Amino acid sequence: MRLDKLLSNLKYATRKEVRKLAREGIITVNDKVIKDPSIHIDPINDEIKIGHETVLYHETLTLMMNKRKGTVCAHNDDLHPTVFEDLDIKYQRFDLHIAGRLDKDTEGLIIMSTDGKLVHDIISPKKDVYKTYEVFTKDVVENIDDLKRPMEILDGNNQPYTPFEPIIVSQDNQRSVIKIKEGKFHQVKRMFAHIGHEVIALKRLAIGELTLDESLSPAAHKVLNDDDLKKIFQ
Ligand code: URA
Repeated sequence: MRLDKLLSNLKYATRKEVRKLAREGIITVNDKVIKDPSIHIDPINDEIKIGHETVLYHETLTLMMNKRKGTVCAHNDDLHPTVFEDLDIKYQRFDLHIAGRLDKDTEGLIIMSTDGKLVHDIISPKKDVYKTYEVFTKDVVENIDDLKRPMEILDGNNQPYTPFEPIIVSQDNQRSVIKIKEGKFHQVKRMFAHIGHEVIALKRLAIGELTLDESLSPAAHKVLNDDDLKKIFQ
């Protein structure tokens, strides 16, 4: 791949700016100063630097984040911080999409990826990727099995929607753990509201068999490898 194309694709600089940086002698490939940015490089094996900054390249990049409460799953928001603002600057250059958004007051596992097919497959109910939520309700839930009865809630367009039957993982006083395979707007809150319970705290613990890395503090994130990705679809 051409060096100038790589750097402009990764939003380090425009091609024109890359030419200028190269003329100034601050772009190196494997420690050799490169004055002609039209050269071809191997983005995986060559070490490319602009000044002291090493250029980070991933053919596809997929991250796990422990979303913190208070952030919105959107690229831009006038009122609230976004999950993208919590990303390390080196990842902000990538065209990342969220595989299943969480509400502002929900925390826990989100997956962000440059791989559109992966994002689609995680979201699509047809792929049977269950999402596990830890739910705290205002009151003790004594009728958890009511969640398994067919119900009608509203989706994000305020249209009636009947969720697939959830899996009840556990229930203890005000704490329930359930799995659902879709991600309609406010779905967990609306399902609990339907059975008469107000959700006061919500955390996503897992997507498929990929569980939130609890060593990630709120807003922290890490790159997922192929073994992690396999767990999603197990
Ligand atoms: N269900 C909800 O109600 N909110 C979320 O953030 C995720 C699932």
